[in-house]
Amino acid sequence: MKNFQIALIPGDGIGPEVVAEGVKVLQAIEGMDASISFSFTTFPWGCEYYLQHGKMMDDDGLEQLKPFDAIYLGAVGYPGVPDHISLRDLLIKIRKQFDQYVNLRPVTLLHSSLTPLKAKTEKDIDFLVIRENSEGEYAGAGDWLYKGMPEEVVLQTGVFSRKGTERIIRYAYEEARESNRTLTSVSKGNALNYSMVFWDEVFAEVGKEYPDVKTYSYLVDAASLYFVTNPERFEIVVTSNLFGDILTDIGAAITGGMGLATGANVNPEKTFPSMFEPVHGSAPDIAGKGIANPLAAIWSISQLMDFFEEGQWGRAILHTIKRMLEDKEQLTPDLGGKASTSEVGDQFVELLKRLTVGRE
Ligand code: NAD
Ligand code: IPM
Ligand code: MN
Repeated sequence: MKNFQIALIPGDGIGPEVVAEGVKVLQAIEGMDASISFSFTTFPWGCEYYLQHGKMMDDDGLEQLKPFDAIYLGAVGYPGVPDHISLRDLLIKIRKQFDQYVNLRPVTLLHSSLTPLKAKTEKDIDFLVIRENSEGEYAGAGDWLYKGMPEEVVLQTGVFSRKGTERIIRYAYEEARESNRTLTSVSKGNALNYSMVFWDEVFAEVGKEYPDVKTYSYLVDAASLYFVTNPERFEIVVTSNLFGDILTDIGAAITGGMGLATGANVNPEKTFPSMFEPVHGSAPDIAGKGIANPLAAIWSISQLMDFFEEGQWGRAILHTIKRMLEDKEQLTPDLGGKASTSEVGDQFVELLKRLTVGRE
């Protein structure tokens, strides 16, 4: 029997609403698979916690998280707490301190009715964005000089280390080689004359060790265009922290929206726990209404099961999401349905059980 210890950080807004549905899925798996069990520990960290305690997580929060096999997070950030505090002191802190330097964000169209792109089908939109997740534009380095004075100057410095750049690019080449897919690097060397010139050099250098991998290199503005006009050009994309953040929202837009976009924050060496979360935020505009789409959070459970090397469950979850998408009625309003968050979760679990037992 394998027991997986999971830290839950439901967080803010719709975070707790969607995490509850993801947990239902894990409990259903536990019920069906006698070789797996999960233990859950919930951490009440987030903006409410901040308003009560003046901090986003306990001082020894990272120490508390270290023993877990994985972290499952909902969303962080809410009006009333400045975003740069809430996000940097919880989400970005965990990604960075736990060296979760690989952010895996699939851009996969699961049902052709979901894309706003005319004449594009599941065949055309199926790629993986590998986002650098520990440094780059998010390094948090900078200065704020002469605050409030006419001479005021603000610096936000990107940090691209040899180690950090090489390891993400190498990870992407390995992934491309293993899965026999093309690799596209997205950068911006024409304007960012230090960081992105370095990125391009490292991409070319590491590439010499992978002559079997077919590569492309696009500027980020052109890549944004091609995401929309020619998504079939992409199989694996490797890019920096900020570019990956923005590109994957475009990825969400062409595959069904924020309610269907997932991301795994992975520490490949397993020195620290990895973290699984939907790409979306706390969605204050719909929080508390019970209409948030839980499928992105459920897809994160698929990534979590793959990470635990329980790929049969990862695939079963993805297959069940696809089946759910065939019937709009049983989806949340963002996908044209009338169902509530918990109804989607319940339906999902029922279908997963049916498909697993009946092998439909
Ligand atoms: P958002 O992702 O929260 O919302 C963007 C839009 O998508 C909104 O219209 C929202 O209603 C919709 N949406 C998002 N998730 C949905 C879901 N599951 N089902 C249906 N509709 C959904 O982005 P935002 O409004 O820019 O940010 C809100 C807060 O969340 C901010 O504080 C931001 O910093 C934070 N944020 C956190 C994360 C994270 O924790 N990983 C990610 C993005 C934004
Ligand atoms: C995401 C989010 C975060 C990011 C924010 C909330 C800091 O937008 O996970 O995509 O930029 O990484
Ligand atoms: Mn984002």
